[in-house]
Amino acid sequence: MRIDRLALENPRTQGPGRRVWYERHNPEHPRRVASLFDRAMRGRAPGTPHSAIIVGAGACTEIPLELLARTHSRVVLVDLDALSMERARNELPSALRPRVRAVVADITGGVSGKLSALLGTQPWSDLAGLGPAAVIAGAADCIARCAVPDPPELAAGLGTFGLVASTMTLTQLFSLPLLDVLDVMAVVAPALVGEQDADPRYQAAARDFRRRVALAHLNLLAALLAPGGTGVVATDVTGHLIAPARGPHARADRETLPVLPRDTVDPRAELAARFRVAGPLERWRWLASTPTADRPGREYDVVGAVFQSRASRDAGQSAT
Ligand SMILES: C[S@@+](CC[C@H](N)C(=O)[O-])C[C@H]1O[C@@H](n2cnc3c(N)ncnc32)[C@H](O)[C@@H]1O
Repeated sequence: MRIDRLALENPRTQGPGRRVWYERHNPEHPRRVASLFDRAMRGRAPGTPHSAIIVGAGACTEIPLELLARTHSRVVLVDLDALSMERARNELPSALRPRVRAVVADITGGVSGKLSALLGTQPWSDLAGLGPAAVIAGAADCIARCAVPDPPELAAGLGTFGLVASTMTLTQLFSLPLLDVLDVMAVVAPALVGEQDADPRYQAAARDFRRRVALAHLNLLAALLAPGGTGVVATDVTGHLIAPARGPHARADRETLPVLPRDTVDPRAELAARFRVAGPLERWRWLASTPTADRPGREYDVVGAVFQSRASRDAGQSAT
């Protein structure tokens, strides 16, 4: 499963080296995330617990972990990648480390494992014998039948937090399991990879799956949020491939792909359905990689928001 490779792949895009890279290539990204945290911390109702949880924390590349550890008595990081979280914790002054706990958990509640189990039950060679439509239908069937825990259980006894946050994680939660489906198809029917997107049943199953996983993630944030608490969410919504400016692969235009289409999940509407959302959604550009002579770069349009638990209204606070 793709999630099994996270711990191997994350160090390429996370940690102190990546922070230096952002300073050079995309300083706006960590600055915008830090400013959301700043707004969220200032918007909490008096008496709200000084505890924070970051889901999909990784190495806290863009998360102001030291500030959180200085200003909160308890900070919980959750990710499948134990090493990255440990690296983030070890970057802190030693006096702050005891305040930070790393919880290794699948924040979807095991969606990749459930989908993988369903994929393992399909009679792929029989389906391949029946033709391309049967293989694609078999894949769509697994996606449609895959249970999505909503909200997912993280770990027993975590409780609720004055600050909850998820940055640049939401789209990975559905895209990695959907890539597992393509990995299986690449083995059983390599010629069909790419064809699935033209199949209405596959498209509908994948759209519904993305929506179920994304909404379960927002419901997880809601379940973890203490009354009077605030939260930060930031997610990529549209991806762009940046072609090299020179060389044989140079192109003037860029390829654009929605990664969180509005007709699948409208972030503003779904946040407003669960929380009080402070101000308009913020938007910025997140550069993931620059183009090389033979590989395109990738960048994303990002939306970010600060939200409050609905119970905050009674406390008369506003996270502006
Ligand atoms: C793009 S990174 C987020 C970066 C992070 N916010 C930072 O500041 O470094 C997405 C994170 O989500 C984690 N992740 C992806 N799928 C996950 C899952 N199902 N359960 C737990 N963590 C997951 C990855 O390991 C990765 O650390």
